[in-house]
Amino acid sequence: MTERYVFGTPFDTEAVLDKPAASPESALGHGLKLSADKKKVSYDLDKDDVIYGLGESLHGMNKRGFVYKTFNTDQTKHNEDQYSLYGSHTFILIEGAKGSLGIFTDYPGLVTYDLGFTDKDVLTITAEEADYEMYVITGKSGLEIITEFRKLIGKSYKAPLWAFGYGQSRWGYKCEDDIREVVRRHKENNLPLDAVYMDIDYMDNYKDFTLNPEAFPKFKEFVDEMKAQHIHLLPNVDAAIKIEDGYDMYEEGVKENYYCKDENGEDFIMAAWPGKSVLPDFLRPEVRRWFGLKYRFFTDAGVDGFWNDMNEPALFYSLKGLKETAEEISHLKDKTDTLDLYSLWHYLDTMNALANKPEDYRSFYHEPEGKKIRHDRVHNLYGYNMARAASEVFEEIAPEMETLIFSRASYIGSHRYAGIWTGDNSSFYSHIELILHQLPNLNMCGYLYVGADTGGFAFHTSENLLKRFMQVSLFTPLFRNHCALGCREQEIYRFKDIDAFRNLLNLRYALIPYLYKSYVDSIENNKLMFTPIGLAFPEDKEARHIEDQLLVGDDLMIAPVYKANASGRDVYLPEDMTLYLMKSDKDFTKTELSKGHHFINVDIDEVPIFVRKGKSLTLGKPAMSTAELE
Ligand code: GLC
Repeated sequence: MTERYVFGTPFDTEAVLDKPAASPESALGHGLKLSADKKKVSYDLDKDDVIYGLGESLHGMNKRGFVYKTFNTDQTKHNEDQYSLYGSHTFILIEGAKGSLGIFTDYPGLVTYDLGFTDKDVLTITAEEADYEMYVITGKSGLEIITEFRKLIGKSYKAPLWAFGYGQSRWGYKCEDDIREVVRRHKENNLPLDAVYMDIDYMDNYKDFTLNPEAFPKFKEFVDEMKAQHIHLLPNVDAAIKIEDGYDMYEEGVKENYYCKDENGEDFIMAAWPGKSVLPDFLRPEVRRWFGLKYRFFTDAGVDGFWNDMNEPALFYSLKGLKETAEEISHLKDKTDTLDLYSLWHYLDTMNALANKPEDYRSFYHEPEGKKIRHDRVHNLYGYNMARAASEVFEEIAPEMETLIFSRASYIGSHRYAGIWTGDNSSFYSHIELILHQLPNLNMCGYLYVGADTGGFAFHTSENLLKRFMQVSLFTPLFRNHCALGCREQEIYRFKDIDAFRNLLNLRYALIPYLYKSYVDSIENNKLMFTPIGLAFPEDKEARHIEDQLLVGDDLMIAPVYKANASGRDVYLPEDMTLYLMKSDKDFTKTELSKGHHFINVDIDEVPIFVRKGKSLTLGKPAMSTAELE
């Protein structure tokens, strides 16, 4: 059952399209207490309560014991000292002695979740303003509540089958030949491949919907050449529009008044990759349509996949902030003989604070339906509406194509328009574990087409780390190897043991029929594709605190190895299962294991797959691309 509470005058995020009638505030029960200013709701936790949710946020699968802030942030450090990442997914599920309870706080600005941090026994949800809606969902089990919530927010975006193919990406592929080389080397090593990503280097000076004419002289022919080899190209599309005289997109937007404004009604000037830029006001339907139709530039050339980026929106600086900082730093030149430690810190902090400044997010405005609204109050809707701009027009501009779109920034509601990836992780073993924590929590918030940068985005990967990363990512809908400029090249063919990598890719392609079926089933039936065993076996006390095992679809369980130099791991089986230790789709051993704790030996080239009681492992035939799957 869902109860809806309305506090103040909330902005309609469109997260919920079909809203149930509102209950009076006085009806708020289930142990939830509202503060006098109505900004805060608190709840007393029992010792064993587990808190799921908050989508892609950091920390464990059980979010208890930390603080989380939902304010979409271009955060390149996915470390435990960070409060926010790129997406704001404000649904939590409390599982415990008092039963199961779901709470969705529909507020598009900052919401702080103190989940037993300040007081270990108290959970508080605080919205920055007392203008929000809260949905309280009860049911017989956690899984039932999740299904009810997913029905409430509407059906998730469905990516085409080809989007389950393996994709190679790197910030730094500059021209047609760089991409040809990636494809050639995969083919000559018999490595399956469906996609190559085009990061910002393809653009003409980082201008959206342009190409560097020297690097891509005959783009349509190039797209056709790739298609003939079953390769999809996926360009990156960023939020910020470069300020440049003669750039038609910039000039059209100025003429039509499509950009966000500062307090004086002038275009708000900020910077991202293109340098000085402006931000389209995606909250206005006419701006979305204008931006969406620009994708024709690519779809007319046959491109059918896209990733939206920097759409929190990331602010490298605002023009105003830059001027103030430059003025402040200029005083440093008079202090070179007298600089004390605190002043040094002050100057260092001043420079570091230039990007993504809270004041900057408070200094520009949107005008949905002619109403002026300050950005920070609707901040988390920006990336959502950018992805929506494209998603809403694909049917019209490319009806014959099966398009794929995923975004970096998101808020619940955008799950109906696009998938997401989890942004700039690092080549750390702990970031493999993080994926296991993020997957079910993303699924419950509506995000089914998801995946992480395989191999890690920042820092340098090793052969074994990439293998362990792949052994998780080969189960996720988005399976993309991506890394940052300046990091060790991590295409599979750069490493020694190509045969082992090929085996992993073959296993992925053999699993695609099962994975895609489970993915579609999760969309159609508002289920999780990745289920924590604690939710699947709620009566099992042992299962409740296990965070590194997941059911995948209805038949399988995974328990990947994600520790450096580990030769195996502990596994808890909530029921009897069959363990397949898979070296490839054809080379495996099979062992029957009984319910309970086990240590399993897992070689660096093996993927442990557990098949649930009464189910079987159904593998298709691997292929060099999804187009060639039988
Ligand atoms: C951002 C994206 C990353 C991309 C880079 C350059 O950091 O998250 O994936 O490679 O921008 O476009």
